[in-house]
Amino acid sequence: MSSPIIICYTGIVEKAIKELKTEGRNAAAVFVTSPTYHGICSNLTEISKLCQSYNIPLIVDEAHGAHLGFHPNTPCSALQQGADLAVQSTHKVLCSLSQSSMLHMSGDLVHRERICKCLQTLQSTSPSYLLLASLDAARAQLSESPETIFNKAMELAVDMKTLINKIPGISVLDFPSFSSFPAFDPLRITIGVWQLGLTGYEADDILIQDFGVISELTGSRSVTLAVNIGNCREHVVRLVSGFKHLSETFSLNQGMRGHRLDDIDCSPFDDINMSLSPREAFFASKRKVSFKESVGEICGELITPFPPGIPVLIPGEVITERALNYLLQLRSRGADITGVADPLLSSIVVCNT
Ligand SMILES: Cc1ncc(COP(=O)(O)O)c(C=O)c1O
Repeated sequence: MSSPIIICYTGIVEKAIKELKTEGRNAAAVFVTSPTYHGICSNLTEISKLCQSYNIPLIVDEAHGAHLGFHPNTPCSALQQGADLAVQSTHKVLCSLSQSSMLHMSGDLVHRERICKCLQTLQSTSPSYLLLASLDAARAQLSESPETIFNKAMELAVDMKTLINKIPGISVLDFPSFSSFPAFDPLRITIGVWQLGLTGYEADDILIQDFGVISELTGSRSVTLAVNIGNCREHVVRLVSGFKHLSETFSLNQGMRGHRLDDIDCSPFDDINMSLSPREAFFASKRKVSFKESVGEICGELITPFPPGIPVLIPGEVITERALNYLLQLRSRGADITGVADPLLSSIVVCNT
């Protein structure tokens, strides 16, 4: 896969903390998402040491990492690396029911009573015992064989990567030269299909319809798969057949189709201009304008291509031509646009100024 950009997280965190200090403010907490949806894990040990030196709590969105620390080949969990709080979507990678999750705490920097109070303001007074029981069942399942439960999934994932790497036109996201950090969750496999002139959305449709393979996440150039304790050898065989089929069917068309993906704007959006705070935008009066005429207006809605579910425009942000072009490119390649009044993108809700 093309050279990845490695972000020095610790440096960024320290820079942010120092910048606030020069403005006479103190960071209340550091919040990190690790692993990402693609399974890339930050060096939380370093970040937590840094946070400790400033006496700032480290909170980790570990939605995709409830299994970390249960196999020697996975990175350690956020708490094992010194985080103060870690929230895990137990339902994503362990076997509890959808919506169930766990908040883990460690140390005494964050007060347990304060967390309980905050939760009380957000939670229902009628908890679901079905969800709670499923969390307990997931915990029990892990505690029966904590050292071996992921062995089979890990073997399957390794075999899957090896076999897929041999298929022409298909590539597997890997950072071979970085043995420690950023670390990868070995059970998340991101497979690039752009060399075949295919988008991830197109590959995903074929994999679902013809091979019964459901990916965890699709993107403009790749699909991401999650291997788990429910997988078996037959799944690997089916999956590899699916990618071989894609390679054989599309590699001949590669020259003709390849250019279709070259125009996707993949560089980060670093020119964001907020005219109103999201709160001001939420309460502002609004109107609908045609998509093309919205450049320069203040966005009044959350415009989020899904997958991956990361907003391109948020309420209060000034709409740029680049953002509009990017949204159109993604839509034409099969992404759904969520959060908007008009998912077909003929119009956009903007704030009256
Ligand atoms: C990084 C990350 N954090 C949090 C969430 C939300 O988790 P949940 O679905 O358990 O509310 C998601 C959902 O995909 C996610 O990808």
